[in-house]
Amino acid sequence: ITDVRESMYLVSEFAKTYFHNTLFNSEEGKAIGYSYFKERGFSNDTIKKFSLGYSPESWDAFTKEALGKGYKLEFLESTGLTIPRDDRPFDRFKGRVMFPIESMSGRVLGFGGRILTNDKKAAKYLNSPESEIYHKSKVLYGIFQAKQSIAKLNNCYLVEGYTDVIQFNQSGIENVVSSSGTALTPDQIRLINRLTKNITVLFDGDAAGLRASIRGIDLILEEGMNVKVCTFPDGEDPDSFAKKTSYDDLVLYLENNAKDFIQFKASLLMNEAKNDPIKKADLIRDMVVSISKIPDRIQREIYIQECSRIMDISEQVLQSTLAQLVQKDV
Ligand code: CTP
Ligand code: MN
Ligand code: MN
Ligand code: MN
Ligand code: MN
Repeated sequence: ITDVRESMYLVSEFAKTYFHNTLFNSEEGKAIGYSYFKERGFSNDTIKKFSLGYSPESWDAFTKEALGKGYKLEFLESTGLTIPRDDRPFDRFKGRVMFPIESMSGRVLGFGGRILTNDKKAAKYLNSPESEIYHKSKVLYGIFQAKQSIAKLNNCYLVEGYTDVIQFNQSGIENVVSSSGTALTPDQIRLINRLTKNITVLFDGDAAGLRASIRGIDLILEEGMNVKVCTFPDGEDPDSFAKKTSYDDLVLYLENNAKDFIQFKASLLMNEAKNDPIKKADLIRDMVVSISKIPDRIQREIYIQECSRIMDISEQVLQSTLAQLVQKDV
């Protein structure tokens, strides 16, 4: 079984190199893939740092090349790089810019491939299927490039997308990883927990991003970690925002807008329900639910005090609500 996995890693590593070389060396790759990345503002160094690539518009150019180099069809298919077909197996990724997804130790596990247009009808990204080596709920895009910086700065920025990670790196911020569009999972959070206790969630400035942030908070608290949230203006994501902002202004923005989860939830209320007592009560209950997820009793106490102060409600009421919730847990 380890042999099977090892063979899958080798095929995936070959694919990474093939797509990367195709981006830099083929006419099609240069004209389409490379110029696409340039337009997004990625330098050659950045393209190399993330081994970005291009898959040619062809039935089986990649598969043929790999078979010619002696890689076995079995592993091309089990990694999902090649789609089985009796007469002529074909490439999964065609005419896409390629983002290799790597493990904490830098092994290639799978790929994301993006179409080059902004056609809203087509699925923007095609990803490798789940396989013996790729479990999307257990990986974080960018973790290999980010791990040293996360440990050193003792904080991890968590974003939604591949290009958010890359644009932040391009801007000089390296402690950033992406959940790649999947709902954040405990396994992903534990991966970060090996490097730091502090996560700052930077999801897209849209309704989906807001919902994902709210959901992520409780999961992160449950792991005993500290969570902050920094939101972006409507319609912006970390990539689009970083692209038009200088390093200094980006750092300032993150510093000034990162809120702890109580402040973040309180700010949601300011936006939608300032004078509505029922909504305010719902939100306070919701804050106490989040607080109840925190394993450490003293930390819970501190957040109860903060909630009391910010929401202008007695600590006693919050304590008794919390007591009910924590009791249910044990
Ligand atoms: N995603 C995906 N499949 C899709 C859409 C999104 O796997 N059809 C994942 C990708 O990992 C993507 C992330 O979800 O990076 C966030 O989605 P979105 O915000 O829509 O894409 P962006 O990362 O902003 O992509 P881009 O800037 O290239 O348009
Ligand atoms: Mn497995
Ligand atoms: Mn989004
Ligand atoms: Mn986005
Ligand atoms: Mn984007």
